[in-house]
Amino acid sequence: MKIIAHRGYSGLYPENTLLAIRKALDAGCDGIEIDLYRVEDTLVVIHDADVSRTTNGTGLLNNFNLQQLQLLDAGQGQRVPTLMQVLQLVNNQCLLNIELKGADTAGLLLQELATAEQQLGTRPELLLISSFNHHLLRFLHQHRPELKLGALTASLPLDYAAFASQLAAFSVHCDQDFIDERLVQDAHQRGLQVWVYTVNSAVRARQLHQLGVDAIFCNYPLEAKNWLSAAD
Ligand code: G3P
Ligand code: MG
Repeated sequence: MKIIAHRGYSGLYPENTLLAIRKALDAGCDGIEIDLYRVEDTLVVIHDADVSRTTNGTGLLNNFNLQQLQLLDAGQGQRVPTLMQVLQLVNNQCLLNIELKGADTAGLLLQELATAEQQLGTRPELLLISSFNHHLLRFLHQHRPELKLGALTASLPLDYAAFASQLAAFSVHCDQDFIDERLVQDAHQRGLQVWVYTVNSAVRARQLHQLGVDAIFCNYPLEAKNWLSAAD
């Protein structure tokens, strides 16, 4: 089972910052997950539509321009990074799961990825784009069908993983509160991977491993590797 550093190594470092991402790379995780919003014409890495929880600022993200946003402290002197900064730092060293939060992010993502591929040598096969907004995933599939997609759900759908098949997704990303054996089996029969968020305990990680889950999102990627190796 793969370990995906959730918002970087967010258990010990400020989430969705370059520091948390660097520490996740150092931990040797299989992948890193980040969240994206759009500010003006730039994709930025932040989880909430309001800056208050994760920075020393207050108010809605859409009241900030990029310059104002980048003056905020996102913890330990870190700034809110741009997607391009993260792509440069990760530099194809592991899989990057880009979760689209803002509804206006998909078109800009295609533009920024094209630039990153040209200028930074970003390898698109090492990206996995996910969202709870399945319309964004459909848009991406229409424009770049080779991109890997992760269909997020915070529910246990009546027809299990059918929604992800419909999106031609690579994986179903399910909340650990709803995952069950039927969803895992249905997804696997459809050729889909099952990734589960957010798992921060050894006991739960081992249960999900037993269930056949392919990857977990964890805020403590280094610790998670030890939880699983102790179970082997
Ligand atoms: O992508 C998995 C997980 O991050 C989804 O929920 O709210 O932590 O972005 P959230
Ligand atoms: Mg996320």
